[in-house]
Amino acid sequence: MPGWLTGKPTISPMTPDLSINLGGLAMKNPVMVASGTFGYGQEYDRYFDISKLGAVCTKSLSLNVRAGNKPPRLVETPAGLLNAIGLQNVGIDAYLREKAPYLRKKGVTIVANIYGHAPDEYVELARRLEAEGAADAIEANLSCPNVHNAKLATGPSMVSQVPEQVAEYTTSIRSATKLPLFIKLTPNVVNICEPALAAQEGGANGVALINTLLGMAIDTETRRPKLANIVGGLSGPAIRPVAVKMVWDAARVLKIPIIGMGGICIAADAIEFLLAGASSVAVGSMSFRQPDASLRVVEGVEAYLRQHGIPTVSDLVGAIRV
Ligand SMILES: Cc1cc2nc3c(=O)[nH]c(=O)nc-3n(C[C@H](O)[C@H](O)[C@H](O)COP(=O)(O)O)c2cc1C
Repeated sequence: MPGWLTGKPTISPMTPDLSINLGGLAMKNPVMVASGTFGYGQEYDRYFDISKLGAVCTKSLSLNVRAGNKPPRLVETPAGLLNAIGLQNVGIDAYLREKAPYLRKKGVTIVANIYGHAPDEYVELARRLEAEGAADAIEANLSCPNVHNAKLATGPSMVSQVPEQVAEYTTSIRSATKLPLFIKLTPNVVNICEPALAAQEGGANGVALINTLLGMAIDTETRRPKLANIVGGLSGPAIRPVAVKMVWDAARVLKIPIIGMGGICIAADAIEFLLAGASSVAVGSMSFRQPDASLRVVEGVEAYLRQHGIPTVSDLVGAIRV
């Protein structure tokens, strides 16, 4: 009999606990947005209250302003997006001056994603962010496919393809900051556990999995690559099964938590990542199609917990039945 006839609520009155502690970072819920798909937060604040998210992750910040690659830099693919933005960003000075104060005023939990050409650049970025109180955690992007020589395919083009380098970079950044440190890894490797374990050994508080998969697309009329950079990074629903598998692989060997991402569009997608072993999730490309997708994911995860009578979101982490 429906609840409006019996007087009994049809939805469980239990309010599930969505809060998590992600390697030392307190978050009101496990949902954040993925670097490079949400600007610096302010751009999305006119669509919804961004302080309702577990955290906002900034576009990768570098020491100097970067214009990025030449256009075309974005191509749609059957179930995703191929991008070669090339880390266009305002640079750390403008971030500290113009972007961070807005996020702080809004009470947003900030994960500052950083990018550099060598460990000392990451060190400087992390130090400045901590000193200025402009981040609650650091996510070091060791996995951008669009700035090195990925198109030459002559060998590893990203730091996170070489576990020894992951350890070296992580150790350096670790020594520069007390903020929770997450290392963002590339899926363009044979075994994701190797760089993930290297990050853990270097002192990371968590790993972010996954960055984009290398890809390219060709215009058959002009015979020219669709991206000016020739190659780019594939994101969106097409990569989700790859990402879930990598999270599952890494979760079985790591002691530190995982931020899972890759093709999350709706709450069920996020729940897949949690079941596979991610402690937190990030919504990426989907924000381009539906700006408030990340907030819908927060609401959907809460509804799922209620529906299944699960008291805390942490109960879902790694709860896959195999
Ligand atoms: C347009 C675009 C720009 C991105 N820029 C960055 C970046 O600056 N730093 C970074 O660590 N990841 C960047 N990423 C990768 C995303 O953060 C995320 O790891 C990836 O897109 C997978 O998630 P998704 O399938 O939900 O988009 C970018 C992705 C896209 C689509």
